[in-house]
Amino acid sequence: MAIILDGKIMAAELMEGLKARVDALKEKNVSVGLAVILVGEDPASQVYVRNKGKACEELGILSETIRLPENTTQKELENLIDKLNQDDRMDGILVQLPLPRHLDEAAVLRKIIPEKDVDGFHIENAGKLFTGQTGVTACTPKGIMHMLKKGNVPLSGKEAVVIGRSNIVGKPIAMLLLNENCTVTICHSRTQDLAAHTKNADILVAAVGKAKFVTADMVKPGAAVIDVGINRVDGKVVGDVDYAEVEKIAGYITPVPGGVGKMTIGMLTENTIESAERKAQ
Ligand code: GUN
Repeated sequence: MAIILDGKIMAAELMEGLKARVDALKEKNVSVGLAVILVGEDPASQVYVRNKGKACEELGILSETIRLPENTTQKELENLIDKLNQDDRMDGILVQLPLPRHLDEAAVLRKIIPEKDVDGFHIENAGKLFTGQTGVTACTPKGIMHMLKKGNVPLSGKEAVVIGRSNIVGKPIAMLLLNENCTVTICHSRTQDLAAHTKNADILVAAVGKAKFVTADMVKPGAAVIDVGINRVDGKVVGDVDYAEVEKIAGYITPVPGGVGKMTIGMLTENTIESAERKAQ
């Protein structure tokens, strides 16, 4: 039976510390604010954006969600970002992804000043991660590292396998694990013999987007299995890992829901608070 890395418990503990940091800033008359931009009507994005707002409210962070229609132009979106870049009330600017297809995502993300890029998606922050400099770290990868450390999962010298090569999760988590001296393999949809890789993994991160994609026969006994998936099956939210079977042989496992997702939102608020703390200095 695996040790459960419980996102609910870890996030609650994290939020307590964050609340104290927001209160300390308020005592110095420093506000903390997050602007979230949602373009279009993607149902999953609407849920994520609502949860981000709730977390801010819980901590006493000013949060403003700006909802724009599906047919918003590149210029309109970039003008809004410009305005928010200059708005001293806002310490973080987050553009919910995916954007409608007619918009240039990379150009939009570059428009956010790196100091307010609380998602860590700006090329400057991504570049800093890849060159070992301090920048803003993407929320989901940062949350995963927090869970591994809180769970005392050994990292140095261990084999880490990441399934998925997105800019949001796969690539940054690979880099963070490398920084902790893991030997890192990134697998993806064209990987030949995926199981041959995953069976070697002491740390296995699944960021695929397919329910029950990681089965027990793919997992090394005792491995730490980190499930980043959020899939809806018959109205229920499930991860990428066949939890019931993998849980029997893994050493550590994150549940879905109540795992990585909870940490992602915690890290978003932490990145926002860190931005406000920089402003206060
Ligand atoms: N869409 C899926 N994950 C994320 C995330 O972490 N940030 C943003 N902005 N959009 C997302």
